[in-house]
Amino acid sequence: MDQPAATISAARTMAEDTQALELAVIVPTYKEAENVLTLINRLRDVLRALRFEIIVVDDNSPDGTADRVRQLAISDPRIRCLERIGRRGLSSACIEGLMATSAPCAAIIDGDLQHDERLLPKMLATLREQNLEIVVGSRYAHGGGTDQWDETRLRASQLATRISRYATRVELTDPLSGFFMIRTDVLRQLAPRLSGVGFKILLDIFASAPGPLKHAEIPYTFRSRTQGQSKLDSRVALEFLELLLDKSVGRYGIPAKFVMFGLVGSTGVIVHIAVLAFCFQILTMSFATAQILATGTAMTFNFFLNNVFTHYDRRLGGWGLLWGWMSFCAASSVGAVANVGVAVYLYQAYDTFWLASAIAGILVGVVWNYAITSIFTWQRRG
Ligand code: GDD
Ligand code: MN
Repeated sequence: MDQPAATISAARTMAEDTQALELAVIVPTYKEAENVLTLINRLRDVLRALRFEIIVVDDNSPDGTADRVRQLAISDPRIRCLERIGRRGLSSACIEGLMATSAPCAAIIDGDLQHDERLLPKMLATLREQNLEIVVGSRYAHGGGTDQWDETRLRASQLATRISRYATRVELTDPLSGFFMIRTDVLRQLAPRLSGVGFKILLDIFASAPGPLKHAEIPYTFRSRTQGQSKLDSRVALEFLELLLDKSVGRYGIPAKFVMFGLVGSTGVIVHIAVLAFCFQILTMSFATAQILATGTAMTFNFFLNNVFTHYDRRLGGWGLLWGWMSFCAASSVGAVANVGVAVYLYQAYDTFWLASAIAGILVGVVWNYAITSIFTWQRRG
């Protein structure tokens, strides 16, 4: 008797189910040639009772990390290397690794042996038994810790933890942890909302979820790095700030970079007043000359600060700096005219309160400057 195709394929699926993949381990790497093979071997050992795959996401590391992974992978199909060219970024690497697996659960673990891979089976068991969406390895839960961190790094990390908990209202002891396990269907649902900027993928996931995620925390000790170097630098700190702004004020439709631009602008006001006071009061220049000098200095100061701070990811250098400075000054001058024009118009034509007129003028000027310099000076389109 003929069996319908659907029955056959259902039976096959059930038979194959005992072979089904249980866990994917995603390992983001950049210049971890000295660490990654040790990690893969430890993972194979600790996960031996499970059906797993390991996906190393490497951003074309110059030290040949990807080649080392492929050397192992060629004789072990559970291992894959996803190599990205011309791109960098820990969060985006993790997201792409997570999106590349069919396993129902996936863990993220650093490739430098600082996270404790022996926790993974327990994380999976917790995720399944308690029917959770995400299980987080925590340095700051009771029983966790950081191996031999100096006081400064510990303070900085705890401060960042506190700020991010406040900004995002995420109730985790270690929202900055880079070590966690998530159900991939949950991740796939959230993926379009993630900002993918910077180092802080876990915070991004929690802050992007529409409601609280069912989660547990498991303490672990963050080990010291023995090979290679950390990639955490000032750029990562700025990405972190941008992510926080994006997840707080961004919710009200205000772009994070606009807030950063505004912060720079307010320090520019202080520079302006300081230069004006110095030239006018101490050097006894004419008010007009002092004002011109103060404006020029403040604009230049703002340009350089925006270049390293607001638009850190598009930093201009070399001749680009000269062109950028000129276009920034040109845009700011137009912004200043718009500012004065709007304020005077509101004050005279509508008899608006002087302070309200001034604030409206400033807002128009700042929005104009932000939009125009983003497009022309730092070439941000769309
Ligand atoms: N693909 C890719 N691209 N990987 C990267 C990149 C990148 O641009 N930058 C860093 N990585 C990889 C590193 O190779 C390493 O495997 C892992 O991401 C963590 O980077 P580290 O530079 O070692 O960061 P860390 O030790 O200072 O901080 C880590 O641990 C903290 C505590 O859990 C990160 O995971 C933090 O997010 C985390 O808060
Ligand atoms: Mn590390």
